[in-house]
Amino acid sequence: MSLLIQSDGPVVRVTLNRPDVRNAFNDDLIAELTTWAGTVRADGPTRAAVLSGAGKAFCAGADLTWMSKMVAYTRDENRRDARAMAQMFEALDRLPIPLIGRVHGAALGGGLGLAAVCDIVVAAEDAIFGFTEVKLGIIPAVISPYALAKIGRSAARELFLTGARFSATRAREIGLVHAVGDEAELDRMVAKYVNDVLTSAPQAVAAAKALIANIGPPGRADAADITIDAIAERRVSPEGQEGMRAFLEKRSPSWLSGGS
Ligand code: COA
Repeated sequence: MSLLIQSDGPVVRVTLNRPDVRNAFNDDLIAELTTWAGTVRADGPTRAAVLSGAGKAFCAGADLTWMSKMVAYTRDENRRDARAMAQMFEALDRLPIPLIGRVHGAALGGGLGLAAVCDIVVAAEDAIFGFTEVKLGIIPAVISPYALAKIGRSAARELFLTGARFSATRAREIGLVHAVGDEAELDRMVAKYVNDVLTSAPQAVAAAKALIANIGPPGRADAADITIDAIAERRVSPEGQEGMRAFLEKRSPSWLSGGS
């Protein structure tokens, strides 16, 4: 299974489990996460969820092997897969109970998107972050509504356009992360937040989360279509293909090595 789901009383621990590729998500993991999110009820026995990654990192974003293969897809197939990815982020963003992210190692690209849809994020002080998509010839498209809502347009302009990697301290400064500590302390930090949630009134917590979602900044009604089209186009573009292939082949992309 690409996703491990363990119930621990009122807490569910959800672990991305593709450690060999640093928990990069492909269609299987996307489907498993979306299906799990759909099972969670505001008035059910589970009162908090903790999202983490197995192995060395939280999540390295979309699986570049999977995404680069989309060059052989029709435009409709490509958009269908992008929509499935968008639906995963939407389902997690709307999870009716608090979602607490436990980030260690790295949260890059779509992996940082997963952190952005968490309500609370604790991070190891040596974890690295980045909206690295432009380094690969693609763009942070379906995650952009969630990332923008957390970090604002100024930080997005800097970080989306440079693809620069940044520290946990910076991630906290711009609102992606709420607490930073030694990796050995992360479970204790998560437990504190879980305890804060569990000692609050269950229906009030659910109502507070719904309120934030309902009162959020006015989004464009067609934001999903814009972001789905944007990533569907970029990942089959010559640049996107070259960037993802270069990463997988452990070489510089053509725009760095002077090729065409
Ligand atoms: N998709 C597919 N495979 C990925 C991946 C991704 N997003 N990220 C990492 N991998 C694979 C690597 O190709 C490598 O495979 P190999 O063992 O067959 O060589 C394996 O995972 C381990 O990666 P490696 O880079 O050796 O591990 P690391 O611990 O030194 O570094 C990261 C981890 C996450 C910092 C690094 O892999 C990385 O920068 N990944 C790219 C992340 C990114 O930019 N994602 C944006 C996608 S939207």
